[in-house]
Amino acid sequence: MTVSLPSKLLPSKVVLCDVAPRDGLQNETKPVSTAQKIALVQGLIQAGLPRIEVTSFVSPKAIPQLADAHDVMHGITRKPGVELVVLVPNQKGAERALACSPDELNLVMSVTASHSKANLRMTPDESFEKLQQVILQTREKVKLNVSLSCSFGCPFEGNVEASEVLHWVSRFHALGVTGVSLCDTTGMAYPSQVRALVEQTQALAPTLRITLHFHNSRGLGLANVFEGLRAGVTHFDACTGGIGGCPYAPGASGNVCMEDIVHALHCEGIETGVDLAQLIDVSKSLGQTLEHPLSGQVVYAGPRSRRYACDLAKPQGA
Ligand code: COA
Ligand code: ZN
Repeated sequence: MTVSLPSKLLPSKVVLCDVAPRDGLQNETKPVSTAQKIALVQGLIQAGLPRIEVTSFVSPKAIPQLADAHDVMHGITRKPGVELVVLVPNQKGAERALACSPDELNLVMSVTASHSKANLRMTPDESFEKLQQVILQTREKVKLNVSLSCSFGCPFEGNVEASEVLHWVSRFHALGVTGVSLCDTTGMAYPSQVRALVEQTQALAPTLRITLHFHNSRGLGLANVFEGLRAGVTHFDACTGGIGGCPYAPGASGNVCMEDIVHALHCEGIETGVDLAQLIDVSKSLGQTLEHPLSGQVVYAGPRSRRYACDLAKPQGA
């Protein structure tokens, strides 16, 4: 007996946001210079990324690596059509960010009490109150997205019920934000969970843009991206080089790798606007900057179009 599963068609085009300059670099222990950060962003712009999360305006005590957020933003030569996004946790962050004219603020809160305390030193309710103030003051001036950390699980509290996440989605939707990011902060999501949460979010807030943000800590990143695509999601975050992680979430490792995702999407005939060869070059120079191996695959294997010379003269079994 064959069973046919209901499936939606994959979208023909997706919008990728490279979060390597923010989610990626915040997790790097070796200091990266302002000039190196700017060079990374310029490389991503050149490679055709339509959205880049450039930095975060958080406490420099919490994330010393990104203390130069203002200088990085002001050092970038912008390209029309490329959206520069910055992460913001509170009012002070929003004020600092707006002085740099970003295209979008990515307001962050965590849906679990323990991760919220560890990462933001406040409860989810306190976080919501602060972000609500920011939204009411800025929504006429700039596009707003809300990132909900630990939407698929928490390293301290375990599984997170979809109803918990939907509670926050509905409150932010009522405030008129452009989008929400469902963030798998420590790589706990699995495909059927992704499908269920996306479908419930779509049902609750049909006009809200949904972005999926996965970490590949348990190898499920690309499977989760494809489940999101099948559910109709067209916006994804990823990190060139597969770097990334939250220093305040134990076990957090790299984001899904941008060049691996671009390669997979292009295999399926899905447009991204990204030049894969250029992106691989950006990833290689990022590896040199960071002085450690990257966790992506395509940067080493090359795209599937890569060909090797077949050397028949080579002795076998040597
Ligand atoms: N940017 C810069 N400085 C900030 C700031 C911001 N967005 N928010 C607060 N500060 C400063 C305050 O001015 C104050 O400075 P002072 O000691 O010189 O007076 C100090 O930080 C403490 O302020 P407070 O409001 O009490 O913050 P806190 O110590 O409770 O920390 C956060 C709260 C949210 C600012 C901090 O936990 C944070 O930035 N977390 C983000 C962590 C992160 O980026 N994680 C990874 C991404 S999800
Ligand atoms: Zn992340």
